[in-house]
Amino acid sequence: MPEARDVSLLIVAAGRGSRVGGNIPKQFRKVAGKMLLSHALERAWRTNLFDQVVIVHDPVEANTVSTALKEAGIAQDKALFANGGADRQESVLNGLEALAASNFPANGLVLVHDAARPFLPETVALRIISATALKGAAIPVLPVTDTLALADAENCLAGNPDRASLRIVQTPQGFNFGQLLEAHRVASKSGERFTDDASLMREAGQNVALIEGHADLFKITLEADFQRAEQLLGMRGMSPRTGIGYDVHAFTSGDHVMLGGISVPHDRALLGHSDADPVLHAITDALLGCIGDGDIGMHFPPSDPQWRGAASHLFLEDAARRVRERGGIIKHIDTTIVCEAPKIGPHRSAMQARIADILKLSPSAVGVKATTSERLGFTGRKEGIAALASATVMLPDMET
Ligand code: CTP
Ligand code: MG
Repeated sequence: MPEARDVSLLIVAAGRGSRVGGNIPKQFRKVAGKMLLSHALERAWRTNLFDQVVIVHDPVEANTVSTALKEAGIAQDKALFANGGADRQESVLNGLEALAASNFPANGLVLVHDAARPFLPETVALRIISATALKGAAIPVLPVTDTLALADAENCLAGNPDRASLRIVQTPQGFNFGQLLEAHRVASKSGERFTDDASLMREAGQNVALIEGHADLFKITLEADFQRAEQLLGMRGMSPRTGIGYDVHAFTSGDHVMLGGISVPHDRALLGHSDADPVLHAITDALLGCIGDGDIGMHFPPSDPQWRGAASHLFLEDAARRVRERGGIIKHIDTTIVCEAPKIGPHRSAMQARIADILKLSPSAVGVKATTSERLGFTGRKEGIAALASATVMLPDMET
């Protein structure tokens, strides 16, 4: 059994983000409700592979960084802080000096990571840590898949480097703490500049193992990268839920029925405690089903006089509110109305528009269909109308 070694994560977050521009450095910009730095910290921390984090930042951002730690769910006493430097190399050195000052053991491992890479897969972190423990230094890389072009001064094709031996370099890069600190101190004295720690360590004579990286480890550098991050976070944070609903109301005497929130002229009416709209009732149940929150009768008991004759859009609005209160997004509603009469076709688009309006959806996200039951059963005998509905909701993962 190899001796357990301390593992520290050093996150550099002191850049200006000049290529993407904007008023605040990119690592403090919010993506899907949280700062980029918070996402980077959270992803890394929840792997449980690190004993502590070192965050290198501009001293004026101290409060912002402490907020990021909170957003990431990391206790303040698990973090060390260091001031940013003029370039990335100096920022890393400052972080390493802070680690040294905290008596981090020279044989400990340190993973140096960009705050601008918010999606660290646990598998990559594991691979880097074990390869570093074994070989002294390891970095994640990706193969080059596109053809490469060499540009001349006129921006014309001057040649095609062979991609087979080339790799794209990512972070976190893993090193023996003592060796990395020493190499950084030497480079700092000599004034040599490097864009990452692996190149600096190679220059110092250290073998650096190339480990399989991950497409998700892309660095946020330009505006389009923010959109990609939003998309990844959006998709990953939510899961689809599908709910179903079914409702029946019997005919009674009257001159219209309420269906899908609109009044449809008919030689009969539907009997019910509220306005007896089976379509809205079925959709209400479908929505409640998506969040496991009972059914319409539980929230609006027929025994309660205050719902006598109530307009059913109130029930539907209440179910939609319950879904949204849990961070849910209603994506789609589908319904089928089962009756011999009245004819639904002429009213279909009005129902679709009304349901969409109640739920604040686009009409194309609402299906309204109808069928007879071939004169079979209670609907076939024109004793009443049945409605079925399904609802699709995206719900935050913590709810699942
Ligand atoms: N970084 C740093 N200190 C510096 C420069 C960069 O801590 N003096 C950090 C950045 O915050 C980022 C990482 O190094 O997390 C990678 O650098 P890069 O993507 O180039 O970020 P910026 O330098 O901020 O962006 P730009 O080059 O577009 O200005
Ligand atoms: Mg930079």
